[in-house]
Amino acid sequence: MKTSKLKYSGYSIFILLLAALLSRSGNPVNSEKDEMALFIDSLINEMTIEEKAGQLTLYTSGWTVTGPQLRDDYVEELKAGRAGNLFNAHTVDYAIKLQKTAVEETRLGIPLLFGLDVIHGYKTTFPIPLAEAASWDLELIEKTARLSAKEASAAGINWTYNPMVDIARDPRWGRVAEGAGEDVYLGSLIGAAKVRGYQGSDLSDPNTILACVKHFAAYGAAQAGRDYHTVELSDRVLRETYLPPFKAALDAGATTVMTSFNELDGLPASGNHHLMTGILRDEWGFDGFVVTDYTAINEMVPHGVVANNKEAAELAFNAGVEMDMQGGLYAQYIPELIKEGRIKESTLDAYVKRVLEMKYRLGLFEDPYRYLNPKREEQTLYSQELMDHALEVAKESIVLLKNESVNNRPILPLSKSTKSIALIGPLADNQKDMLGTWHVAGDASKAITLLQGIKDTASDVKINYARGTGFSGNDISGFAEALEMAKNSDVVVMALGENYQQSGEAASRSEIGLPGNQLALLKQVQALGKPVVLLAMAGRPLTLEWSHENIPAIVNTWHLGTMAGKAIAEVLFGDHNPSGKLTMTFPRNVGQVPVYYNMKNTGRPFSAENKYTSKYIDVSNSPLYPFGYGLSYSTFSYSDIELSKASMTQNETLTLSVNVKNTGQYDGKEVVQLYIRDLVGSVTRPVKELKGFQKIALKAGESRKVTFSITTQDLAFYTRDMSFKAEPGDFEVFIGTSSAEGVSTRFALQ
Ligand code: BGC
Repeated sequence: MKTSKLKYSGYSIFILLLAALLSRSGNPVNSEKDEMALFIDSLINEMTIEEKAGQLTLYTSGWTVTGPQLRDDYVEELKAGRAGNLFNAHTVDYAIKLQKTAVEETRLGIPLLFGLDVIHGYKTTFPIPLAEAASWDLELIEKTARLSAKEASAAGINWTYNPMVDIARDPRWGRVAEGAGEDVYLGSLIGAAKVRGYQGSDLSDPNTILACVKHFAAYGAAQAGRDYHTVELSDRVLRETYLPPFKAALDAGATTVMTSFNELDGLPASGNHHLMTGILRDEWGFDGFVVTDYTAINEMVPHGVVANNKEAAELAFNAGVEMDMQGGLYAQYIPELIKEGRIKESTLDAYVKRVLEMKYRLGLFEDPYRYLNPKREEQTLYSQELMDHALEVAKESIVLLKNESVNNRPILPLSKSTKSIALIGPLADNQKDMLGTWHVAGDASKAITLLQGIKDTASDVKINYARGTGFSGNDISGFAEALEMAKNSDVVVMALGENYQQSGEAASRSEIGLPGNQLALLKQVQALGKPVVLLAMAGRPLTLEWSHENIPAIVNTWHLGTMAGKAIAEVLFGDHNPSGKLTMTFPRNVGQVPVYYNMKNTGRPFSAENKYTSKYIDVSNSPLYPFGYGLSYSTFSYSDIELSKASMTQNETLTLSVNVKNTGQYDGKEVVQLYIRDLVGSVTRPVKELKGFQKIALKAGESRKVTFSITTQDLAFYTRDMSFKAEPGDFEVFIGTSSAEGVSTRFALQ
């Protein structure tokens, strides 16, 4: 134990450290880990049951018009050592005040841990996660997390509730905005990249923060896409689809896990021993701590698996959950439950140890103020480095959905010598909604609107702006002005979609078209016969079938964050060639949901000739835009798919190559995607599964041989007896520009 660890502490910590030092002299301590264990064990020895429960308790700070404020009763709990962790308590001055209370006014002086939902940035707001996933750029995504950690930690945060790795196949669920989409393979890689970004290589570095992988587990499978709703899954689907991204994030070093609100097999996650202990600890060897979601322990009462809060606390505790977020039940009931012998003090000690270890690893015992430097805060927030990255990642997230020719020329990119543009829609001159859901600390006044972005990018173009309509209701009073603007302009750009509250938590929708009467406005504008570009700006896949049939150019811009307007303008005017690819299927209508690329074939796969095959009588089976889809201003061709050999053994690696050519006029990037189908399995297999991708840049006219390797690991799955392995047999491999278009060949596994 270095003496510097004494610099803030009160008398009690001093005694503890001395004890640790003394025992160390009789029993040599070799590693940092031993040193940490010695320190923490000594500390736990000094703690009362109430203080231990306090370390397992997390409360939120509030915000009033005058700034941040902690509820009076929480201040009392804090001083009594009955609240060891806070969230939403950011900004340095405020956090210093609170940390001082913990360090100087509690009996043991244990520093607080400060958490926050840094989901897509702290102040500088990056694209919503679903948008960023469309970049298919793991380095870029890791950097977003790295920079978010840098910025958030400069404002006093040591713990983010991210990444959210819930696989989501139902776009009615508003929280699809927070994750990487529908695919297990891509979602796992993205989750791991974010963990690396947040946590860096050394947690005690003041610009790293703890990651919290959430929501464990299967929250994305909420029935009918209704938030907080029941989940009903087989163990096979749980393991094959919903768990792998968690495992990947933990393998990348994620230090904390958050429980989900939903039940699984009849038991809410926060009281689910099979999940929290069986899978997480026993199977996966997780050694960090688990925090519940917001009041999720208390919610086990309305779930109907316990009669009261005390039973709920007991169930969660015995399931293996360390920390209670906001429910206050651990603080209230742990002492009684111990006294009554319903929970064990040795388990309590183990839980407290895991929490204190994180505080230790963050360096908070060495210096509880190490994240609280006002100068660093001032220099870091909205720094150039952050803003530059926010622009880059926003551009990479944009997905071009359609770009038809008008007068023999694709409508996009627009020419900077276009005389006039009508810019219409509720998202055209709008700062707040650019930030999207969970922009916790993001400042809307810093966001670049589309109107501003276009002015800056194409300063000679005359812009005729009208809002036209809002996000709900059927008020048409703004239509006339919008139509007038459209009539008097050469091109019309419609900025339509969702506001920031129409996706995210508690924002499920049963219809996922353009909300309010935006489609009605779009139809009237289209009827004028002008070239129209639709910008779909939303937190989820929208149903855009009418637009697809009638509007020549559609760009899906999501909610792109602080630099949204500039990024979109650069794409509109061709300063940036879009290369984003959807990571979630866009259905034609809600009736198709759930619709995802890696479905099963069924015993009656679609046939146009046979009525009695698996299909609808009123809509096609195919989605409007499939997973992996996204256009470029250029075009790419795929040819010459070649395998190193036609069959492989269990220990071999197969090499696969394809020639990709940029056949268009523009330099561009392409995400080359590799999918595999196991033609016969001991259980049914999906028609396609993503197993590799590469994002490559090709100049106009350039071609490149792109090579992938396939190992048996890529072919493995949970077989009939639930063992995870690859089965011998034939496989189809498919490489292409999306999950629906490409070239294919076959190989065998012996
Ligand atoms: C959400 C979590 C979030 C937590 C804390 C909950 O309502 O489900 O994702 O981390 O609040 O803000």
